[in-house]
Amino acid sequence: MDQAEGLRRMRARKPVKVIAVASGKGGVGKTNVVVNLAIALAQLGARPLVFDADLGLGNIDILLGLSPRYNLSHVLSGERRIDEVLVRGPQDILILPAASGIANMAILDAQARAALVHAVSSLDLAVDFLLIDTAAGIAGDVLTFSCAAQDLMVVVSNEPASITDAYALIKVLSRDYGQRRFRILPNMVRDAREGQLLFQRVAAVADRYLDVTLDLVGSIPLDPALRGAVRAQRAVVELYPSSPAAGAFRALAHTVRNWPMPQGPSGHLEFFVEQLVGGSSVVQGA
Ligand SMILES: Nc1ncnc2c1ncn2[C@@H]1O[C@H](COP(=O)(O)OP(=O)(O)O)[C@@H](O)[C@H]1O
Ligand SMILES: [Mg+2]
Repeated sequence: MDQAEGLRRMRARKPVKVIAVASGKGGVGKTNVVVNLAIALAQLGARPLVFDADLGLGNIDILLGLSPRYNLSHVLSGERRIDEVLVRGPQDILILPAASGIANMAILDAQARAALVHAVSSLDLAVDFLLIDTAAGIAGDVLTFSCAAQDLMVVVSNEPASITDAYALIKVLSRDYGQRRFRILPNMVRDAREGQLLFQRVAAVADRYLDVTLDLVGSIPLDPALRGAVRAQRAVVELYPSSPAAGAFRALAHTVRNWPMPQGPSGHLEFFVEQLVGGSSVVQGA
């Protein structure tokens, strides 16, 4: 494909909403949020692509009982095309498996960057959401993805370590990376009221010490059905669609679908990739 053809394809495409999901602390429910939100969005007619950017345990493929043969590292090395690496999950959601061996997207070498940009511009698929499951912690790629995405959703549970780590993440991103807006998703709460109180706790500290805007995007209840689904290597919205957690994920999907779509060049995946691999000074600092 020549450059003109690449540009033509790019312009013909619909805008893509890029949402990074982070939490600071691990085990808070990021992967479940990403997978269930993607499936619930697909049930509403959207076409989400999920990017597993967490190299730790409990990856998306394990959660969904998939065993992908290839991953992003094969695209970056030029061994595989991106369409050979993507796998389909429930409701036909697309999944880009985690790239083992790549610690930081911001320090890819020139050849890998070029491969990534080429892979994305040759991607001939209708995708309207890109959901990124980031690693735990507040270093390297988590910051890179959070800055490159249009929206950042911070998952937080009602335990001191999760609240502290979510706050630490928001603090670093606002103080060192100029991020101002954060979407907060309380998980494993008793009810919506507890979710609201948890949000207020985080917001109270952030308002006092940081120059940020936090939005509550809903909440996901603590639900044994979700644990059962994890054990069965299925998504709760599929296996137990009438469970409280599944209902909350569907409500979240409605909310997310109503967020404004990006206008202009920033709505193209190429723009996101450029941010990711160092197209902006913010990301280069990561
Ligand atoms: N809403 C929930 N209700 C019940 N258990 C949950 C819920 N969310 C997460 N969990 C539990 O927490 C575990 C870790 O979730 P996971 O999505 O893998 O977290 P992370 O990706 O942040 O490490 C799950 O396997 C499940 O047992
Ligand atoms: Mg995870």
